[in-house]
Amino acid sequence: MKYKQTKRKRRWIWVLFWIVLAALLAGLYARFVEPNLLVVRRLSFQAQGIAADCRVVFFTDTHFGEDKSVDSAKQLADRINRLEPDLVIFGGDLLDNYARDREQLDLELLRQQLSNIEAPGGKYAVWGNHDWGGGAARIYQEFMESFGFRVLKNESLLLEAYQLQLLGYDDYLTGELGGQLPAFAEGVFPLLVAHEPYTAQLLSGIPERALMLFGHTHGGQVGIPWIARRILPPGSGGFVRGLYALDDAERSAQIYVSSGIGTTRLPLRLLSPPEIVCIDLQPE
Ligand SMILES: [Fe+2]
Repeated sequence: MKYKQTKRKRRWIWVLFWIVLAALLAGLYARFVEPNLLVVRRLSFQAQGIAADCRVVFFTDTHFGEDKSVDSAKQLADRINRLEPDLVIFGGDLLDNYARDREQLDLELLRQQLSNIEAPGGKYAVWGNHDWGGGAARIYQEFMESFGFRVLKNESLLLEAYQLQLLGYDDYLTGELGGQLPAFAEGVFPLLVAHEPYTAQLLSGIPERALMLFGHTHGGQVGIPWIARRILPPGSGGFVRGLYALDDAERSAQIYVSSGIGTTRLPLRLLSPPEIVCIDLQPE
């Protein structure tokens, strides 16, 4: 009897040992390995209204600062250029906390690295909540423009070579998503970009042929489904990461929510690796 009890006790000690070891290894991986990865998500769409093949590279939520060194911007620019994009679009949250990190941030090095990004069809960006907050609002637009990114704030422009209408929206949490928003053009392909996915639920009249790109959620950072859903930041609109349809209809606008590149609050990523998104838009 006593022998059986000892055996059971030993078994539980082993189970506990393996659980603690697995948690420790997962923690080390989430802290030191996954945040430094960079994967490419590839998508392709039959884009109704578009006049020529167009490759869009979308990256977002870099959160350069205390936990994301500006040195990593070289790898980012190289990976983007290797994809040979026509357009490059940034989805906001360039710096994690400008006020906190400004003494250590080498903005000149960041400018040099990101200015190497090449896109013959243009480079564009929108505002994120971290671009408005932490004192970054004073520098964000000027800084992005200094290396060739045009910042769109409730604006649209027609890229005639592709017959693509690019619509960029202000950050809804900290900016001003209101007033006179740009109208959707007839007969061209609408590509909408904003930081927070909840923006999709605030806009009206989105054409069913549209594609919308968002960031903000970081895929929950810890991408274990029931944890991720519970720790999503305000403005996520219930989206975590990946491809969604705007509504249940068979033909419906498409949404892609990127898990982005950097981290905020906790320097951890688990099952939600940093990503850049490569989207091939093709005429129907
Ligand atoms: Fe972010």
